[in-house]
Amino acid sequence: MAGVELFSHPALYTRYRAGLCSAAALALLVITVLTYVPPLLVAYRSHGFWLKQSAYLEQPTVRFRYEVLFVATIGPGPDSFLAWSTFPAFNRLQEDRLRVPLLSTREEDKNQDGKMDQLHFKLELPLQPTEHVVGVQLILLFSYKLYRMSTLVMQSMAFLQFFSPVPGSQLYMNGDLKLNQRQLLNHCGLDTRYNVSVVNGTSPFASDYDLTNIIAAYWDRNVTTVFSDPNPVWMTGRATDTPFIINATIHYPVEVILYQPGFWEIIKFAWIQLIYDK
Ligand SMILES: *[C@@H]1O[C@H](CO)[C@@H](O)[C@H](O)[C@H]1NC(C)=O
Ligand SMILES: *[C@@H]1O[C@H](CO)[C@@H](O)[C@H](O)[C@H]1NC(C)=O
Ligand SMILES: *[C@@H]1O[C@H](CO)[C@@H](O)[C@H](O)[C@H]1NC(C)=O
Ligand SMILES: *[C@@H]1O[C@H](CO)[C@@H](O)[C@H](O)[C@H]1NC(C)=O
Repeated sequence: MAGVELFSHPALYTRYRAGLCSAAALALLVITVLTYVPPLLVAYRSHGFWLKQSAYLEQPTVRFRYEVLFVATIGPGPDSFLAWSTFPAFNRLQEDRLRVPLLSTREEDKNQDGKMDQLHFKLELPLQPTEHVVGVQLILLFSYKLYRMSTLVMQSMAFLQFFSPVPGSQLYMNGDLKLNQRQLLNHCGLDTRYNVSVVNGTSPFASDYDLTNIIAAYWDRNVTTVFSDPNPVWMTGRATDTPFIINATIHYPVEVILYQPGFWEIIKFAWIQLIYDK
């Protein structure tokens, strides 16, 4: 026969009390402390507790500034070159080595998102029949902006260089304009430290246009861009009446940007660590 429950009451509830200064109270305190402190210490010592850097993806807003500095080494004779730039002061310094090339450039927004994705750059250098190009050095200047966390506004460059023992007819290059960070960016604010021209185009001094000086000053910066993976293709066999051609494509890729997280992001991260470590 199934029983019917008439009455029930919970198990006996018993309190054990001890004085605040007793050994039992001390033991309770020690146990409580051991519950919370070691995980914190372990988390802290493992360096995983406070977020020190973080990263995000952003495609920079890059525009070619239509500023160029170009030097072609002419062989086979020693130490001869032709040069041209968009800086009149530099051109005045070149005298009879000045040779004005024909430039055509086009920036392209392939995915129609309002940001340029690549630059097509073409330079045609007219030559005398006796002149042969055995090397080129080319500086292209860009304005480069990031907006997603802190706003970074800078002027940067791509440096293209190629030398060959065999005189060329055409140089083809295809690479990326990559961000190079020596320092974390801030999580907010405006950074215009490097919103200065890479080449001081107003200077009348030759030393200010010396490639080694330009590059040395540029590499003192903590945030720069470099032309990476240029994949140069040097074509030979130029007909005497044709110009030397540089054909370059420079991509503006999406970058992984390292930054210093803000206070609330650090607290949020520490909180999550604490919950998961316990
Ligand atoms: C460049 O970075 C170094 C190390 O992070 C820093 O000490 C220096 O102040 C930075 N320079 C500028 C101009 O911000
Ligand atoms: C950066 O420099 C350019 C020209 O040198 C100037 O027009 C522009 O306002 C500057 N941008 C910022 C955010 O300072
Ligand atoms: C550029 O050069 C001129 C002349 O030497 C100098 O006065 C000026 O301060 C320089 N500008 C920069 C940005 O260095
Ligand atoms: C430059 O290279 C592009 C390919 O990226 C090609 O379509 C174009 O015809 C080349 N221009 C010359 C002058 O060779």
